[in-house]
Amino acid sequence: MNNVLITGAGRGIGLEFARRFAAAGAHVHATVRDLSKADGLRALGASATIHTCDVTSDAHVGALADLLGDTPIDILINNAGILLGRGETFDTLEVADLEETLRVNTVAPVRVMQALAGNVARSERKLIVNVSSRMGSIDEASGGNYSYRTSKAALNMAVKVLANDLKGRGVTAIVVHPGWVRTDMGGPSAALSVKESVDGLMKVIDRAGIRDTGSFINHDGSRIPW
Ligand SMILES: NC(=O)c1ccc[n+]([C@@H]2O[C@H](COP(=O)([O-])OP(=O)(O)OC[C@H]3O[C@@H](n4cnc5c(N)ncnc54)[C@H](OP(=O)(O)O)[C@@H]3O)[C@@H](O)[C@H]2O)c1
Repeated sequence: MNNVLITGAGRGIGLEFARRFAAAGAHVHATVRDLSKADGLRALGASATIHTCDVTSDAHVGALADLLGDTPIDILINNAGILLGRGETFDTLEVADLEETLRVNTVAPVRVMQALAGNVARSERKLIVNVSSRMGSIDEASGGNYSYRTSKAALNMAVKVLANDLKGRGVTAIVVHPGWVRTDMGGPSAALSVKESVDGLMKVIDRAGIRDTGSFINHDGSRIPW
């Protein structure tokens, strides 16, 4: 049975990932910030172990790694993320939003990968998936959303570098774009349901192997330019 660890799994895309992997027979290690908001995960019963983890807390991430010990993690999904100052322009950009977004969307997933890379390396599947965004593509960047775009572009770079560093240990590290999805973050007008997005991402994850390490992959399997 595969062990899958998903951050930010209490709602949105993370919760759907947890449901899918549990249904496929995996054991899900699901992290939430607030246990009182984990009813969707509790419904998964013995298929899921729920951990409390604010991914920006070095102490929380360290405690999670200590608790897992030598447990192999076949698939690590860095999913937790925020979008602050939606539609922010150069004039309205708040430095505090930029800093907080970098802390959650860039620093935290890098820290999580650093803490758990050994667990992934000792698993069979050896796969790290970072839920980034097409908005982090430098090639495709248009105006606005400075904080979010910058945080995801920086995450993408970290994964590209890490992919190289972990290749020798057989670990595949990829960046994925879920599409524009109807979650709290994506809003009700988004193009895709959570189900449609995760349908595509599950196929991407299923197919991902070492030849894909360091790739930026759309939910439909196509490649996104960096
Ligand atoms: N929805 C879209 O259209 C879209 C498009 C491109 C990329 N993405 C990416 O997809 C991922 C999931 O987004 P979503 O749409 O599912 O968003 P969402 O519904 O807003 O859920 C965000 C998740 O991240 C968690 N989170 C936020 N800050 C955290 C922290 N400091 N520590 C731990 N968990 C934290 C939240 O936990 P709480 O419940 O505790 O707040 C929640 O579980 C994000 O990385 C996002 O950038 C989404």
